[in-house]
Amino acid sequence: MNKLKLIQQNFDRAAANYLKLAKLQNTTAQKLVAQMNNQLNSPEQIILDLGSGAGTFNHQVSTPQNQIISLDLSCAMLRQNSSSNAINADAAYLPLKDNSVDIVISNLMLQWTENKRQVFGEINRILKPNGVLVFTTLIKPSLHQLIDSFANIDNQQHTLDFLSSTEYQDLLVNSGFTINDQQQWYETFYFSDILSLFRHFGKSGTSLPAAQRNGLGGKSIINKLEQIYPRNNDDLLALSYHYFMLTAHTIS
Ligand SMILES: C[S@@+](CC[C@H](N)C(=O)[O-])C[C@H]1O[C@@H](n2cnc3c(N)ncnc32)[C@H](O)[C@@H]1O
Repeated sequence: MNKLKLIQQNFDRAAANYLKLAKLQNTTAQKLVAQMNNQLNSPEQIILDLGSGAGTFNHQVSTPQNQIISLDLSCAMLRQNSSSNAINADAAYLPLKDNSVDIVISNLMLQWTENKRQVFGEINRILKPNGVLVFTTLIKPSLHQLIDSFANIDNQQHTLDFLSSTEYQDLLVNSGFTINDQQQWYETFYFSDILSLFRHFGKSGTSLPAAQRNGLGGKSIINKLEQIYPRNNDDLLALSYHYFMLTAHTIS
């Protein structure tokens, strides 16, 4: 089965409880909405929420004048979404006309896409001249404590492959965008043991889909990780998420 299908199934399965569990997504969504509101220069704008999921933003950005289009790979996610304008599609092939959208927002979706160059090309194509893109994503060195610990055990990939902020900047500029603003921050969570860390990680939307990730580990991997994972002065295991928010516009 191809990777896109696995990602779709992963989010189809997560859809029912998504809004209840989407803690990471809510924090970045608040920042993104504040940033987007700075970019709203007319109340009648067409906004595309790319990788909208169950609709974290709907109540915050939709006004009677704004038209919000929710687009997502997962039908089950879109069924949870209250948007009246929902499109089931892959961000790499947007079924929208050239120069038809004023603002594209995307919260914690881009880290899932395989061909980011194509996704940014598509966003550039559908945005009007001087159209705005605001996105948040996870970047390197997210989950470095877990990735480094796994590297001591096997050479398999267990998490998403995150890009650096510089790689995102280069992709944007090469896709014809002008960058207006960028912000980076991180958040660290602490756990008493590997199993509780895994439970959090599984719900954070950053683990690979089950069929693709070679298993997070049976008992022996968990035992090995328990021994090598670094512990802080309070004897806790840390796991960090590094966020990136970028605002850019197309050439007028
Ligand atoms: C971590 S969730 C974030 C959802 C939403 N933006 C939020 O803030 O709650 C990632 C979403 O991206 C969608 N997604 C992943 N890959 C995609 C792709 N190639 N095209 C469109 N949507 C995609 C998933 O189905 C999922 O709903």
